[in-house]
Amino acid sequence: RNIVVLISGSGTNLQAIIDACKEGRINASISAVISNKADAYGLERAQQAAINTVFINPKDYADRESYDLALADAIEQQQADLIVMAGFMRILSPAFVERFKGKMLNIHPSLLPKYQGLNTHQRAIDANDDEHGCSVHFVTAELDGGPVVLQAKVPIFEEDSAEELAARVQAQEHAIYPLVVSWFIEQRLEMKEGRAWLDGQML
Ligand code: GRF
Repeated sequence: RNIVVLISGSGTNLQAIIDACKEGRINASISAVISNKADAYGLERAQQAAINTVFINPKDYADRESYDLALADAIEQQQADLIVMAGFMRILSPAFVERFKGKMLNIHPSLLPKYQGLNTHQRAIDANDDEHGCSVHFVTAELDGGPVVLQAKVPIFEEDSAEELAARVQAQEHAIYPLVVSWFIEQRLEMKEGRAWLDGQML
């Protein structure tokens, strides 16, 4: 089975998934890593793992719809069973999301539904929360709003900087994202009726 990973940045989640595929914890191969940034470090990680990379430059497209059509075509070429968004920093058009409904996962650095959007670590600190975390969810047309599959929590300590907290959260991201991907690949996980289901149980 085939996975396509979409990235924009450093690709530490991509690396966790590459490692899990290599070690047989995910029974699939990554057929391509696609980026909207030419200099995303994740592209180098992919090349080091001998994975095909694709850069699709937003400057080459007039609008979001045409960009997303090119993105969708690149994904279709790979015959992907699953699209994994791992730090892909673009909003997807409703038509794109509809086309790959139930086949797209994302990881978000907060305990959703809290802190959708950006700067989640600083926002959790500013709110004086005592815990924070990350969520893997199916992608729907609502940004960071699709059904949650799995979350991991971390404590927030006094004096934490956003960077320290982000590092604590990221360590958990690297644990839970490969696990959720493996469930999907094993066909234990699906989205139906707008909810996530694991082994036939609604989550
Ligand atoms: C992660 O914090 C993830 O939660 C968010 O973007 C970041 C990507 O980091 N969606 P990396 O590129 O996987 O290192």
